[in-house]
Amino acid sequence: MRTPFILVNFKAYPEALGSKAVALAGTCAEVAEETGRSLAVAPSPFDLALVAKSVRIPVFAQHLDPADTGKATGWVPPEAALAAGAVGTLLNHSERKVAWEEMRDLIERCRQLGLEVVACADDVAEAETAATFGPDYLAIEPPELIGGDVSVTSAKPEVIAKAVVRIHAASPKVQVLCGAGVKTGRDVAKALELGAVGVLLASGVVKAKDPGRSLRDLAKGLGRGP
Ligand code: G3P
Repeated sequence: MRTPFILVNFKAYPEALGSKAVALAGTCAEVAEETGRSLAVAPSPFDLALVAKSVRIPVFAQHLDPADTGKATGWVPPEAALAAGAVGTLLNHSERKVAWEEMRDLIERCRQLGLEVVACADDVAEAETAATFGPDYLAIEPPELIGGDVSVTSAKPEVIAKAVVRIHAASPKVQVLCGAGVKTGRDVAKALELGAVGVLLASGVVKAKDPGRSLRDLAKGLGRGP
């Protein structure tokens, strides 16, 4: 991903399923094109392929399984996401946790396939351990702030600052994202000030009355375009 960036997680919000997922991804692509900023989306697994065909911005899976291809009914191995057009995946989101071994193995599998991994962590200790597996990005998201109206950048800036120091100490190449309650360009700018290279967000765009307007404001927080 070109940094700094905004990754919009569609979760399983009804406002972003099926044709609405394609429409929302289209709005994200429009704003990326218009502003020159780096935006990406993570639609539901059922919408990923259609979204990836419909837009020219990076598309991430929301989760992958450490299953081999072949006789794997109902599992979603990394190869399936790659074949559907994904450039990367979220992993260990607080709403879809995985075991440490699964995270370690999946990060390695994704690296071999050229899929970027955004590993998520609830707190600094979890982030530090996950960083040792060498994901491309580590997203710190305090679960109690997810979906709320107060941004992690104003409610817990010290957690982000500490995570940046500890993650870089554990694995210097791992870049830090933050999320939970991020809604405005100011929240994004604050995240960058604290040492993150981008944000992960959902409700601030998916549940916004005017997602395009929210995205344009959020994109301003990324600073000057290329
Ligand atoms: O993955 C992003 C997410 O958990 C944050 O959600 O709604 O607080 O932006 P939200």
